[in-house]
Amino acid sequence: MSSNQGGKIKVSVQKAGPLDTGEIAQAMKSIKTKFAIMSGKGGVGKSFVTASLALGFAMRGYRVGILDADVYGPTIPKLLGLVGASLYLSEDEKIIPAVGPLGIKVVSMDFLLPTDDTAVIWRGPLVDRAIKDFLGSVLWGELDALFIDLPPGTGDAPLTIAQTLANELTGSIIVTAPSDVSRRIVQKAIDFSRKVKVPIVGIIENMCCFYCPESGKTYYIFGKLIGKEMADRYGIPYLGMIPLDPRIGEANDLGEPFLMKYSTSDTAKAILSIVDTVIAMYKDKLEGKVEVPKKQPIKSLMKLPGEEEEGNE
Ligand SMILES: Nc1ncnc2c1ncn2[C@@H]1O[C@H](COP(=O)(O)OP(=O)(O)OP(=O)(O)O)[C@@H](O)[C@H]1O
Ligand SMILES: [Mg+2]
Repeated sequence: MSSNQGGKIKVSVQKAGPLDTGEIAQAMKSIKTKFAIMSGKGGVGKSFVTASLALGFAMRGYRVGILDADVYGPTIPKLLGLVGASLYLSEDEKIIPAVGPLGIKVVSMDFLLPTDDTAVIWRGPLVDRAIKDFLGSVLWGELDALFIDLPPGTGDAPLTIAQTLANELTGSIIVTAPSDVSRRIVQKAIDFSRKVKVPIVGIIENMCCFYCPESGKTYYIFGKLIGKEMADRYGIPYLGMIPLDPRIGEANDLGEPFLMKYSTSDTAKAILSIVDTVIAMYKDKLEGKVEVPKKQPIKSLMKLPGEEEEGNE
């Protein structure tokens, strides 16, 4: 599936026929917890939250990886100052992740694109094949936590990727932001997780409000928050909220991880409180031995078109 060209790798997708996800299980067998970050719609800060959770875990001393599986808009390298990084092959043709701040191992679709401006045109079966080939070949090594940035929304691409990884996932983390339609969007994200049979870790409400540095007051500029209400309604943990902070955009644009640059800010405290909540929830797994996941063919999870109604309970 890949060739070594002057150290850099080139991935081509040619094989046909079903591929056993056992290869992915094998590649990920030394990772204690694996979280997919998802959202019902784009632009809610999913990639920022993915990078921040990973940085937070690393700041707490855990060995962390990020899989940027957003085939349409891979942005993790930008947030971690890794633009232009390449993936390399080991002698036995395995993919070696790039290493970002705090030793975070990063694998991104972005590393496979020739230039920044390349439009990615992935079609369903191609995403399926590329993801399986690609993920089965990564040398993650031993990690405590892997954070996976899924493509936004609940369409074909996130579905294919989530299904492919479903057996491996510890849980999904739903990111939402206040908006008129967010109830429905959160519900779509919950339905999606249930459809792919992945436990929901909880909901994070990003851009919840604004902490005014002058008055010390919190302003809920977008009106009432619905994350907590939805979490209660569906019996899902509410992991917390992250305020709007203009420094986040600035740090992201500069490729300087916000959480490290402004580690003592109120915004960073809000993020770290979410990180600590997730760590507390998975303390046993994080401190215990790695569980070797059961090998299961992906086929059993692929009957989705006929199950369309089932997820909308
Ligand atoms: N809490 C926040 N305060 C201020 N800006 C934020 C916050 N969270 C994210 N942003 C900014 O919002 C924009 C969208 O964030 P991000 O790229 O993480 O969203 P996304 O959900 O991954 O988007 P996409 O759907 O395109 O993948 C970015 O410019 C980011 O810097
Ligand atoms: Mg994104």
